[in-house]
Amino acid sequence: MFKPAILLTLAAAVAAKYCQNITVPINISARNGLFNIDPPRTEIEVTNFFLNFSKENSNYTQSVTDGVSPMEERRQSAAGVSADAGMQYKTIKGDYQLAATYCEPDSGPGDALQILTHGVGFDRSYWDFPFDNYKYSYVNKAIDRGYSTLSWDRLGIGHSSHGDPVSEIQIFLEIAALKKLTQQVKDGEIRCTKHKFKKIVHLGHSFGSAITFALTNMYPAISDAIVLTGFSQVSSFIGLFALGGNFAPVREIPALKDQYVDGYVAPKTSIGMHINFFSPGDFDPRMLEAATATGQPAAVGELLTVGSTGSTSEFGGPVLVITGERDVPFCGGDCNNTMIIHGSAPNLIEMSKISFKKASVFNATIVPGAGHGLNFQYSSVFTYKAILDFLKSHL
Ligand SMILES: *[C@@H]1O[C@H](CO)[C@@H](O)[C@H](O)[C@H]1NC(C)=O
Ligand SMILES: *[C@@H]1O[C@H](CO)[C@@H](O)[C@H](O)[C@H]1NC(C)=O
Ligand SMILES: *[C@@H]1O[C@H](CO)[C@@H](O)[C@H](O)[C@H]1NC(C)=O
Ligand SMILES: *[C@@H]1O[C@H](CO)[C@@H](O)[C@H](O)[C@H]1NC(C)=O
Ligand SMILES: *[C@@H]1O[C@H](CO)[C@@H](O)[C@H](O)[C@H]1NC(C)=O
Ligand SMILES: *[C@@H]1O[C@H](CO)[C@@H](O)[C@H](O)[C@H]1NC(C)=O
Repeated sequence: MFKPAILLTLAAAVAAKYCQNITVPINISARNGLFNIDPPRTEIEVTNFFLNFSKENSNYTQSVTDGVSPMEERRQSAAGVSADAGMQYKTIKGDYQLAATYCEPDSGPGDALQILTHGVGFDRSYWDFPFDNYKYSYVNKAIDRGYSTLSWDRLGIGHSSHGDPVSEIQIFLEIAALKKLTQQVKDGEIRCTKHKFKKIVHLGHSFGSAITFALTNMYPAISDAIVLTGFSQVSSFIGLFALGGNFAPVREIPALKDQYVDGYVAPKTSIGMHINFFSPGDFDPRMLEAATATGQPAAVGELLTVGSTGSTSEFGGPVLVITGERDVPFCGGDCNNTMIIHGSAPNLIEMSKISFKKASVFNATIVPGAGHGLNFQYSSVFTYKAILDFLKSHL
C-alpha cells in the first residue's frame, strides 16, 4: 500500500518538469553600510534590537551608522570606506557560492527564464514548496505555461554561503549577487542554463522584491520584465513586521542553531510566522506548520539596509506589483486604506506607479483577502494567474 502511493506522488509531482540543483560560484563586491553594532546574541539583545528598530519616527539605520570626522573619513577612503547621504560605507568583496535550482518543462527549455528571489523567512523552496503534493508551487504553474525558472537561496541564507550578519549580509551585496547570477545566465556560463533565453524576467517576494527593484533600477537593461510580489513603497509599517514576528536569536531555534551564527534572527514559533505571512481564513493550518518547520532566518544587516536603495526606478520594461490585501509589513494589514498617503493614490500598491515613470506597462494588483506570504495561501491560485497572465500579455 505504502510504496505505490509514494511512487504515484512522485510521478504526479515531477511529471511536467525537470529540475536540477546547482551551485554557482561568484566573485562580487559591493559598498556595504558600516554599522557600529555587535550582532545581537541573546533573546534580550534581539528584542532590544527590534524595539530600537521599530521606534516610530526614528531611523535606526541612521543611528547605528558610524559617525566619523572628515579627516578620519579621508584616511578611511583610502581603505575602502566612504560616506554618502549620511551613511558610511565600506567595500566588501569576496568569493561566494549560490545554491540554486533550475527547472524547465519536460519538453525542453522555455523561451523565457524567470529568476526567482525569495524574501525574509524562507529559502528558495518558497517558489516550489512540496507541501500537499506541490499544490502551492509557483514553479509548477510557470512550467505549465512554458517558462524555465531559476530560484536561488539569497546570499547569506539556506545553502548559499553565509556571512557576517552585520557587515556582510546586506541588501547591497545581495544585489551584486543577483546581478552576477543573471550575468552568468546571459553569458551561458551556468552548466544547465547554457540555452540562450530570448527573455529574462525577475520576480521577487518581499525582501526579494526590494532586491529586484534595486537591481533593475541600477541596471535597467538586465531584465525584460519584473514582478514584485508582497511589496509596496510605504515604509511606515515595517515596525509591525519587526514586532509581530516574534523574532528570536537562531541559537534558540533547534532547526537553525547549528547552521547560522549570532546575528541571524527568525520567528521562534508559528505565531510570528502567522502574524507576518498568513491572513485570516486564507490558509491551511498544516501549511502554517510546514512553513514554520522549514523557516529560515534573516541577518540583521538585511533589516538595517532594506530601506536604503532609493524610491524611484529607471526600469523601462513591464512592471507588475502584486500584494495581498491584508499584507502586514507593506500595507499595515489593509492595502486599500490610503489614509497614510492622504488619498494620493487609489491604494497603497498603486502608489508605486509614480516611481516607475519609465515602465512600458505598470500594473498594481491587490490579491483579495491575502496576507504577505502570497505563495503559501489559498489565494495563490489568484496570484499565480495574475502574474502569468500579466507576463503573457506584456513580455
Ligand atoms: C534540491 O535540493 C533540495 C534541498 O536543498 C532538495 O529538497 C531537492 O529535492 C533537490 N532537488 C533536486 C531536483 O535534486
Ligand atoms: C575575484 O576578484 C578579484 C578582483 O576583484 C580578483 O583579485 C580575484 O582573483 C577574483 N577571484 C576569482 C576566484 O576569480
Ligand atoms: C538600543 O538602543 C539603546 C539606546 O537607546 C542602546 O543603548 C542599545 O545598545 C540598543 N540595543 C541594540 C541591541 O541595538
Ligand atoms: C534611514 O537612514 C538610512 C541611512 O542614512 C537611509 O538610507 C534610509 O533611506 C533612511 N530611511 C528612511 C525611511 O528615511
Ligand atoms: C480592496 O481592493 C481590492 C482591489 O481593488 C478589491 O478587490 C477588494 O475587494 C478591496 N477590499 C475592500 C474591503 O474594499
Ligand atoms: C492589471 O491586471 C489585472 C489582471 O490581473 C487586470 O484585471 C487589470 O485591468 C490590470 N490593470 C491595468 C491598469 O492594466
